[in-house]
Amino acid sequence: MAVAAARLDPHHEIADIDRRLFGGFVEHLGRHIYDGIHEPGHPAAGADGFRRDVIELVRELGVSTIRYPGGNFVSGYRWEDGIGPVDERPRRLDLAWHSTETNEVGLHEFAAWLELVGSDLMLAVNLGTRGTQEALDLLEYANVDAKTAWTDRRAANGHPEPFGVTMWCLGNEMDGPWQIGHKNAGDYGKLASQTAKAMRMLDPSLELVVCGSSARSMPTFGSWERTVLEHTFDDVDFISCHSYYQERGDDAQEFLASGVDMALFIEAVVSIADAVAATKKSDKRIMVSFDEWNIWYLHDEGGGQNDKPEEKGWPVAPRLLEDRYSVLDAVVFGDLLITLLQHADRVRSASLAQLVNVIAPIMTEPGGPAWRQTTFFPFSLTSRLATGRAVRVPVVSPTFASAVAGDVAAVNAVATIDDDGASLFVVNRSTSEAATLTVDLGPLLAALGRDVAVDEAHLLHDDDMYAANTLEAPERVGRTTLDAEIDGTALTIPLPPVSWGCLRLT
Ligand code: AHR
Repeated sequence: MAVAAARLDPHHEIADIDRRLFGGFVEHLGRHIYDGIHEPGHPAAGADGFRRDVIELVRELGVSTIRYPGGNFVSGYRWEDGIGPVDERPRRLDLAWHSTETNEVGLHEFAAWLELVGSDLMLAVNLGTRGTQEALDLLEYANVDAKTAWTDRRAANGHPEPFGVTMWCLGNEMDGPWQIGHKNAGDYGKLASQTAKAMRMLDPSLELVVCGSSARSMPTFGSWERTVLEHTFDDVDFISCHSYYQERGDDAQEFLASGVDMALFIEAVVSIADAVAATKKSDKRIMVSFDEWNIWYLHDEGGGQNDKPEEKGWPVAPRLLEDRYSVLDAVVFGDLLITLLQHADRVRSASLAQLVNVIAPIMTEPGGPAWRQTTFFPFSLTSRLATGRAVRVPVVSPTFASAVAGDVAAVNAVATIDDDGASLFVVNRSTSEAATLTVDLGPLLAALGRDVAVDEAHLLHDDDMYAANTLEAPERVGRTTLDAEIDGTALTIPLPPVSWGCLRLT
């Protein structure tokens, strides 16, 4: 049994938590929209075709802002295809995912769905096959409150009021050779700067996200951020990070170090952004929008890609990227959420990629049920309990050796504090050793001027770390109770190997 010790001191504040840290991402990809959130004729679907059972689960998940409509898809998307009478909309080839896009769902339908789930819209513009003018057209159509040809069309399409979208992504993964319209950093930086400036002429209050690297492992990582920010520093508020993690070669211990990899990625991007600020003699701070993060079994053991959409023809809504998540995946995932909270001062927005059926916490079957994957639990609990301010919780812990970051602490933690109490999020990354974490609550109790009790405490763990929820057994894995106890000022938390937990102190 390993022993770990920590101290919860409210003075170790990181930052107020921006609710946009708990964002999601919906792309026109596979069965995400069609046969996922939208399935006319399903017993749970409303007259609008949207499944109410899925809406309930998305509400329970607690996603704030949702990025739309891609992803790789956006780099070939004509947004005008998705407005106007549905039966007049064109069917188009989607080159990114080798599928046929029917355009039954577009901006209006998606905005209506967001109203039902209670989330805000974050839009991405196409800077792959298109440019500044089309971005301006979309912005005018979506946001302008004046009488113009575009806003007349919006009203004729049933939405006289502007959609009021504040956060916009300037393209998607433009550093990736797979991206339609892939560019070098200089060309992309110039286009993004010019597009951002024009968008701000239309609406200065926008919050704009410029594309960073698609992964820390990209050959251009670092120089891409520097060059892009040299062009766009004055025009944007955020730079994006994207990162997906998976277990490789049956090395669960290495996989469990993924949170440290994410931390190194964030800290490197922040350093580059601040270095560009220094060269510009500016005290402006560019924030990170971690707008794609998740576990994704993207690579096969040979380093190739697992899903091969081009082998399926041009189907509508094919089964793509339908990863099944284990308890191990969910523990790593929970640690990624801890990492985001630990960087809440600079990561002011993040989008779990994605939401339904496609590398998703929620799965559905056509004509059948919807269910929660293992990753659903850490997300919904963190989104609900992480309120107020994020607070650092340094842990003295045994370590294990990793290739990605040398010695890695087996136990990791972060806390949040608000007017009613505190929440604590913990992970045991060890595959072999249980741990007992003792947290000194003295500084917290002194600051609050009263005692606290454990109000709720949840554990994600299974003796079979590869256990998962499936269509056949949708409730095989759930959360159980974490046996946290307070004695005086000491909070004791037992953590089995490969486990994630959280608790609320009030
Ligand atoms: O989320 C799946 C894909 O991953 C997105 O379309 C793309 O942006 C990234 O490469």
